[in-house]
Amino acid sequence: MGLLVLIARAEPSRSVWDGVYSPEQASRGQAAYAEDCASCHGLALNGGESAPPLMGGEFLSNWNGLTVGDLFDRIRTSMPADSPGRLKRERVADILAEILAVNQFPAGSMELAPKSEVLKEIRFEAARPERK
Ligand code: HEC
Repeated sequence: MGLLVLIARAEPSRSVWDGVYSPEQASRGQAAYAEDCASCHGLALNGGESAPPLMGGEFLSNWNGLTVGDLFDRIRTSMPADSPGRLKRERVADILAEILAVNQFPAGSMELAPKSEVLKEIRFEAARPERK
């Protein structure tokens, strides 16, 4: 029992289902995405000739069980693939909000912070958890 409590505490307490970005942030992100990402990943995030979709089944299963911080770091350090590391953290966080919105995760009143330590507290869960 004691061990179970410990494990539960070590897990991040929030998930992408808890309204972790705002609609305003996602709309800023939509504009930034169109400029920086759409040329390869498609305007609807559905993928292009060489770049994978950033929405739907395979994308969601790639990130399932990781954290929003992991995805933030992945984008920040490796994207845009033709000039990685060019984007400001705030802009990456906005783009991340757009990606969450397109993947049908609910919006809320808070914004995603442009900090990986903070975003690592948010679990990426492909499926909506059962209500407890
Ligand atoms: C020049 C083309 C290009 C641009 C621009 C680009 N990407 Fe990518 N992206 C790729 C390619 C190719 C891959 C697959 C190879 C790899 O993983 O590096 C990829 C992979 C990814 C992945 C991993 C997908 C997965 O299922 O795990 C993410 C996330 C991503 N890109 C996000 C972005 C974001 C956000 C932007 C805009 C800031 C962006 N990319 C801009 C070409 C691009």
